[in-house]
Amino acid sequence: MRLQKAELLFRGPSFQNHLQVMLHFLVAVILLQIDSSRCGLPFYNGFYYDHDKGNGNGEIHFNGIRLVVETPGDPVFTYRGANVTLSCHYHYDPQLDVPRRTRIKWSKLREDSTSDQEVLVAAGLKHRSFGDFRGRTHLQQDSPGEVSLVIRDLRLHDHGKYRCEVIDGLEDESGIVDLELQGVVFPYQPLHGRYMLNFHEAEKTCREQDAVIASFEQLFKSWEEGLDWCNAGWLADGTVQYPITQPRKACGGPALSAGIRSYGERHKNLHRFDVFCFSSSLKGNVYYLAHPQKFTLEDAKQACQDDKAEIAKVGQLYSAWQFLKLDRCDAGWLADGSVRYPIVSPRAKCGPPEPGVRSFGFPKHGKYGVYCYKMN
Ligand SMILES: *[C@@H]1O[C@H](CO)[C@@H](O)[C@H](O)[C@H]1NC(C)=O
Repeated sequence: MRLQKAELLFRGPSFQNHLQVMLHFLVAVILLQIDSSRCGLPFYNGFYYDHDKGNGNGEIHFNGIRLVVETPGDPVFTYRGANVTLSCHYHYDPQLDVPRRTRIKWSKLREDSTSDQEVLVAAGLKHRSFGDFRGRTHLQQDSPGEVSLVIRDLRLHDHGKYRCEVIDGLEDESGIVDLELQGVVFPYQPLHGRYMLNFHEAEKTCREQDAVIASFEQLFKSWEEGLDWCNAGWLADGTVQYPITQPRKACGGPALSAGIRSYGERHKNLHRFDVFCFSSSLKGNVYYLAHPQKFTLEDAKQACQDDKAEIAKVGQLYSAWQFLKLDRCDAGWLADGSVRYPIVSPRAKCGPPEPGVRSFGFPKHGKYGVYCYKMN
């Protein structure tokens, strides 16, 4: 009707074309808006939508055909340095005869639930991976609908939840894969004493010990395995908690049941606590340097270097205790200036009746042996 009116008013055929183009444009804009509000896209997925005309894309979604993305329900457990495949498959329900063009996006959810971290995107034969994942990830597409993610040489901070997202035109479905590392959680208190670290310093402190700040899941698993620690420490999600297996007076009282006690979220700059660090398996070896004499800290560092190694970090000693079953009833220096020793089989004169890494704290004086770390 309007077009007829316009014709009537302006008559010129070129003007009519203009109006038609403008009307089409308006309709397209309105349709786009309806579409995006309909889908209620939960997050920006990194792709610009385009309308695929001519190959059948576009209508099919509204005819009861569902895009289904499948990922494993159980966490995938592996260890630092390993290669892992995060499985993801998709199909249409009911099945389609003609293959359709899709785009794939893998991203990693962040612990503190801010925006996701991009891992890899793929459209057709084009793949691209991002940041720290560049050069060690690819898409595995061995069977129709498979879009699994392969990550090589896993790093400590790779653990967490990954989203596999399949984008077909305006449709968008995803599944989550939980990647966990086998490892060991240890509480850490720096040289200057108890409750000295804000969140950022806590993260840095763990890195300096060849570890990362532990997640709640990692702490929980360690608690199940018997970790009991009566000082509150930071976790990766910005909360402060501590694990108790034997309730007692000094640790919240004997009336409270065993469990992970939480102080909740704390201010990342202002509040100070200890930290729980996490380390996984080791590339290399930790050993006690047998030597007739004992060392000062400086001499100990030198002794490891003379042995073509370096003085071990706390995370490396814990890792060797956990994964290499290092058991030695000799106190030795570590890089941070603490003195510790690892016990797998508890025995007389080697500390408490449970296995563990024993600590002498940070002795100001005295001579001890040393634990060295050598790369393979
Ligand atoms: C991981 O894969 C790479 C290349 O495919 C291979 O060279 C390496 O040995 C693998 N690492 C492990 C731990 O299997």
